[in-house]
Amino acid sequence: MNDMTSHPVTTQDAAEPILRLEGLTVHRGAAKILDRVSLSLGRGETLALVGESGAGKSTIATALMRLLDGARVEGRAELDGAGDLLALPERRMVRLRGSRLSMIFQDAGSALNPSYTVGRQLTTTLRRTLGLSRAEARAKAVELFTSVGINDPDGRMSAFPHQLSGGMQQRVMVAIALAGNPDLLLADEPTSALDVTIQAQIVRLILAQTRARGASCIFVLHDLALASQSCDRIVVLYAGQVVESGPSREVLERSRHPYTRQLKSCVLEIGSKDLTAPEGTVPPHSEMPVGCRFATRCPRALPRCAGEAPPLVPARDDATGPLDHQFACWNPE
Ligand SMILES: Nc1ncnc2c1ncn2[C@@H]1O[C@H](COP(=O)(O)OP(=O)(O)O)[C@@H](O)[C@H]1O
Ligand code: SF4
Ligand SMILES: [Mg+2]
Repeated sequence: MNDMTSHPVTTQDAAEPILRLEGLTVHRGAAKILDRVSLSLGRGETLALVGESGAGKSTIATALMRLLDGARVEGRAELDGAGDLLALPERRMVRLRGSRLSMIFQDAGSALNPSYTVGRQLTTTLRRTLGLSRAEARAKAVELFTSVGINDPDGRMSAFPHQLSGGMQQRVMVAIALAGNPDLLLADEPTSALDVTIQAQIVRLILAQTRARGASCIFVLHDLALASQSCDRIVVLYAGQVVESGPSREVLERSRHPYTRQLKSCVLEIGSKDLTAPEGTVPPHSEMPVGCRFATRCPRALPRCAGEAPPLVPARDDATGPLDHQFACWNPE
């Protein structure tokens, strides 16, 4: 395969990225779940990872948190001032989780501990990450519950997770993720378990809170339109590879990769957990084409596509286009 695919996607304001991910590759047995994924995230920037189920979005977030089990991981993930997340000793990672980076999981119901009140779960995190006293942590917890839109925040401190609605549980998770003032938030489809009406509220809440704190966010979203409205940049993944990335509007309005075009034309099925997939299915890893992984579903495939992997290249070579819009395709739209 062509090594050019591992070139990092650079941001226009990449003077001091908070995260520089280079060549993230994840193997599970013989399968390459992620293949040389590179991206760079500026301070205060929000980035959406999009792609249908199985693309590797959760694997990226989980690998950054160093919570992947049973997988072989290669690459580098430089978190500003902390070093390579993929290589740090676990005791350093324990200190970084919650304080420098934190993750909001898809299903708050199972991420929260059913045996403890939500107040206790938040104050425990506050005391661990910020070293607060019991009384300080309680006051800060009420303040955080208020900021994430939990009504009667004082009263809710003594509620157990099962006593709260799904939307309220997710707000608690957001408060816990924000508790240690992390500068990188990873939100893995944090709303897909919720009613459609609540989804937009939570997405807006997470992004507003992220921005208010000057933090950066990698948002796994299944809706390309929502991603482009709410995030600064988009990275489109297909079968573990970046196929297109760049500023949101640019990727949405000037998509070059056939897969991005197909995603754009898909509509979100109410209540479904993922996009209505483009026609066809992702081949199993044992049958993945050695060239372009999208070749089996692509209406624009050329004879070379199945055998030769297209490198990521700039979408526009004139000086007027954003330098960081890139795609990987031999026969782009
Ligand atoms: N624990 C696991 N064991 C084996 N394969 C896994 C595991 N988790 C994920 N995978 C595989 O890794 C690929 C990427 O999965 P995932 O990152 O969950 O995708 P996404 O979040 O985009 O839906 C899929 O092919 C999935 O089947
Ligand atoms: S490289 Fe070929 S198969 Fe892959 S997306 Fe482009 S045209 Fe389609
Ligand atoms: Mg996922």
